[in-house]
Amino acid sequence: FKRETVYNGIGGYEKMEEIVETFYGYVKQNPVLIPLFPEDLTETKHKQKLFLTQFFGGPRLYEEERGHPMLRRRHLPFPITPSARDAWLACMNQSLVENKVEEPYFTEMIERLTLTANHMMNTPES
Ligand code: HEM
Repeated sequence: FKRETVYNGIGGYEKMEEIVETFYGYVKQNPVLIPLFPEDLTETKHKQKLFLTQFFGGPRLYEEERGHPMLRRRHLPFPITPSARDAWLACMNQSLVENKVEEPYFTEMIERLTLTANHMMNTPES
């Protein structure tokens, strides 16, 4: 049997949209993250919905629209310190809790997002 994807397990695209909307609501209030992001998060949210869909086993929507993710390279313009990494993960954790993502999906999502977030760090703490 093929293992259920996280994407299907949590409820598909609608759930991913809710997670991303809630996440950027927290980003907008986070003093470490605010200066890194554009004021208008419409496009940012859109890209993240496409990316996380694909990342968690759904249709490859991000690649169709934006090509290979090259996430580390796409993050190089932004100074991502250890505290920015921590802040990003805290916002995502809150969003998954608020959107009632259940086990085993909760842990799998946090684990994979943590690995990727670690990989995005490109600047020492100032
Ligand atoms: C884009 C910050 C981690 C996925 C961005 C942007 C910023 C940012 C400032 C540009 C906003 C925009 O393009 O509109 C951060 C910070 C992180 C982090 C501070 C802390 C570690 C992650 C992680 C993922 C991710 C862990 C995926 C699991 C993306 C994607 C984009 C993006 C898909 C859009 C790339 C594009 O197509 O241009 N991020 N990010 N980011 N981030 Fe992050």
